[in-house]
Amino acid sequence: MDDLIQEFQNIFNTTKTPREFFAPGRINLIGEHTDYNGGHVFPASISFGTYAVAVKRNDATLRFYSMNFPEVGVIKCDLSDLTFNPEHDWANYPKGMIKYIMEQGHEIEHGADILYYGNIPNGAGLSSSASIEMVTGVLLENLFNQKINRIEMIKLGQKVENEYIGVNSGIMDQFAIGMGKKNHAILLDCQTLDYNYAPIELENHAIIIMNTNKQRTLAGSKYNERRQQCEQALADLKRELSINSLGDLSNEQFDQHKYLIKNEIDRKRAKHAVTENVRTLDALKKLQEGDLIGFGELINASHHSLKNDYEVTGIELDTLVEAAWKQDGVIGGRMTGAGFGGCAIAIVEKNKIDDFQTNVYQIYTKSIGYEPTFYTASISDGAKEITEGVR
Ligand code: GLA
Repeated sequence: MDDLIQEFQNIFNTTKTPREFFAPGRINLIGEHTDYNGGHVFPASISFGTYAVAVKRNDATLRFYSMNFPEVGVIKCDLSDLTFNPEHDWANYPKGMIKYIMEQGHEIEHGADILYYGNIPNGAGLSSSASIEMVTGVLLENLFNQKINRIEMIKLGQKVENEYIGVNSGIMDQFAIGMGKKNHAILLDCQTLDYNYAPIELENHAIIIMNTNKQRTLAGSKYNERRQQCEQALADLKRELSINSLGDLSNEQFDQHKYLIKNEIDRKRAKHAVTENVRTLDALKKLQEGDLIGFGELINASHHSLKNDYEVTGIELDTLVEAAWKQDGVIGGRMTGAGFGGCAIAIVEKNKIDDFQTNVYQIYTKSIGYEPTFYTASISDGAKEITEGVR
């Protein structure tokens, strides 16, 4: 934090001491591509995330700087013009957040100087963009003394993705980041936004994040296409069923009515959405019963479904996850997040982690031609102001 403050003072040429904020990234344990299908997800916020340090200004100017993109330099705009501007690059995320928070009636009467630093690897599928949105939300709330309901802030973050950036993503990432709790995952019903915290007690196991190092952006991925295919499948099913979303169906109901879905590809996509939602609820049950093996099997089944029915894995994620499955002490592994590259997770016995990483590294590097990266996930609290002494 001291480095960030020093950098802030250099970049903005000031002696003022900024206030400090943090929003985590997230992993999703299970429940992938179910959020926009009205199903359940089971994510957790992690200790990697985005720091922001900021000072309120006396005029209406906003200045943004990211230590992750120093080549872009300081991006400047005015509170009176917060329209999307491709030249503003990454700063469109905070700009979108400020715009929507103001439109909600919150009084942001002055500009600010804000410096960001994120230690979430970019494009790794650990929600660096939702993390920037949420750290900006918390910063505005505190700097300008506004009471912003957390669920409202989460929805505004999603709105930035959907309407400002143009990615039709669901609510999971912003929710996990806004509501995260140390050592807990969140079971969220994405239709009602009812949620429960579940303690993550994995006995002598740790969650390892494995990065394929294959970059992808959702804007350039097939994400929106998958969403449309599910919407088409739902529209077909609704001709005879009175349901609101694919998340309303059991596996049996889906099997009975899947003939209604005209296109075979749409049928496969819907099958994933339905079975994944069922798996997510089962997984929580297994965890609560202390059945880690059963929990791991559902995690593996999720990957199979994402590979074969949803087709969002790709050679890099498959190689990584299949290498992980073969290792000693692994109870489960799957891609996490949107897919198409990015990260996977594996639940690994703590005293086997070194061998696990060496072996998976070798298999992946030999077959893909570049290296994966490993991190141990620690599940941490959601977005907040960092107060002096609690850094
Ligand atoms: C991305 C989206 C989320 C969710 C996941 C897939 O992370 O932002 O809303 O759809 O992909 O589960």
